[in-house]
Amino acid sequence: MGQNEIISLQNIAVSFDGEPVLKDFNLQIGEGEFVTLLGPSGCGKTTTLRIIGGFVKPDQGDVFFNGKKITAVPPYKREVNTIFQKYALFPHLNVFENVAFGMRVHRKKEAEIQATVRRMLEMVNLTGFARRNVNQLSGGQQQRVAIARALANGPKVLLLDEPLGALDLKLRKDMQVELKKIQKQTGITFVFVTHDQEEALSMSDTVVVMDKGRIQQIGSPQDIYNEPKNAFVADFIGESNILDGVMAGDYLAEFAGKRFRCLDKGFAPMEPVDIVIRPEDIEAVPPQQAELSGTVVSVTFKGVHYEIIVDVHGFKWMIQSTRYQAVGQEIGLEIGPDDIHVMKKSEYSGMFGDYSSFSDEMEGLLNSPEGKGQ
Ligand SMILES: Nc1ncnc2c1ncn2[C@@H]1O[C@H](COP(=O)(O)OP(=O)(O)OP(=O)(O)O)[C@@H](O)[C@H]1O
Ligand SMILES: [Mg+2]
Repeated sequence: MGQNEIISLQNIAVSFDGEPVLKDFNLQIGEGEFVTLLGPSGCGKTTTLRIIGGFVKPDQGDVFFNGKKITAVPPYKREVNTIFQKYALFPHLNVFENVAFGMRVHRKKEAEIQATVRRMLEMVNLTGFARRNVNQLSGGQQQRVAIARALANGPKVLLLDEPLGALDLKLRKDMQVELKKIQKQTGITFVFVTHDQEEALSMSDTVVVMDKGRIQQIGSPQDIYNEPKNAFVADFIGESNILDGVMAGDYLAEFAGKRFRCLDKGFAPMEPVDIVIRPEDIEAVPPQQAELSGTVVSVTFKGVHYEIIVDVHGFKWMIQSTRYQAVGQEIGLEIGPDDIHVMKKSEYSGMFGDYSSFSDEMEGLLNSPEGKGQ
C-alpha cells in the first residue's frame, strides 16, 4: 500500500476458558487504510477489535501502534475509538451533548467544542438536529450520531463493529457510501467488521477473511474474489463451483473427467487440488461446442441474471447467465483458461461441493455449526 504502518498485530493468540479464539494472528494495517474483518459468527472478529482497542489482553503476542509496543497500554490511552452495532448513545443527552461528550471529558474549550460538534454533525448530514433528543431519531440517524461522537474525539483509528448490522438494506447501502466518504475525507484508519461479504468487497481497501480464529486470506477485494486461497474463502465470498481436481502439468488442470488449459503452474506432478469456477464466468453454449455438457435442472430469475443449475454426470453446476434456458434442456458449459482458479488442498477441501441441494434454506442449515460435516 505504500503508506506507514499504524497498527501491527504480531503472533497474537487468545483463549477464553481454555478455548482458543485467535491463533497465530498476524495483521499489519496501514495509516489511512480501510480494512475489513470478514468471517462467520464466532470466528474472532470482535475479539480482534477488542485487542486493538485494549479491552482484551492477548495471551501471546504483541500489539504495535506506529511502531511502539502498546500491548500493556490501557484503552483510554490509545488513540483508538470504537463504534458498536448497538449505538450506545446516552439517552438523557441530546444529539449535541452526545457528540460533545468525549471533548467535555477531556475539558476542551467551549468554543472548540461548539465548532467541532457543528463540523461533525455536518459531516454525518445531521445539521439542524443538535437539540433533538436521541430517542426521537431513527436507527440510521442514531448511528450517524454514534459516528459523529467517535470522530469528534479525533481518533487515529476507528474500530467499527458491524455498525450497519441493525439497519434495513436500503439504509445500509446509503450508510456504506457515506461511511466510505467520511473515511476518505478524514483520512482516519478504519477497521471495520462485518459478516456481509458484499459489504466487505464494496467498502474496503483490504479484506481479512477469517475462520475459526485464523486468518484465511488477506488481500484487496479483487484478490480475494478472483484468487481465493482455499475452498473456505471461495465459498464464503460469492458463489462458487468447487471441484476436486489434479494438476496434470503446468497450465493443465484435470477435473470433471476432462483436461482444461489454465493459468496455474508450479504444482507437483498430478498434485490433487481444489478447482473454483465462478458461476458468472461460465458461458452457456450449444452442447457440441463445449467440453462439458449437461441438463438444466433449475432456473431462478434473480433480476440481473438467471441462476441456472446444470447436472453434468451427477455434479450440479451453477451458472449465471442473462439468457434464459429451459429446464430439461441440454447445454454446454464453456470454461476459459482464466475462469479456472486452482487452489491447494486444505482442511476445507470436500466441505463445499456442488449445488445438488441448493436452496437458501439448505445453505443456512449447512452453514450452522450443527449442520457441519453432513
Ligand atoms: N469474554 C469472553 N469469554 C468467553 N468467551 C468469549 C468471550 N468473548 C468471546 N468469546 C468467544 O470467542 C469466540 C469469538 O468471539 P467473537 O465475539 O470475537 O466472534 P465474532 O467473530 O465477533 O462473532 P459475531 O459475528 O457473532 O459477532 C466465540 O466462540 C465467543 O463465544
Ligand atoms: Mg462480533
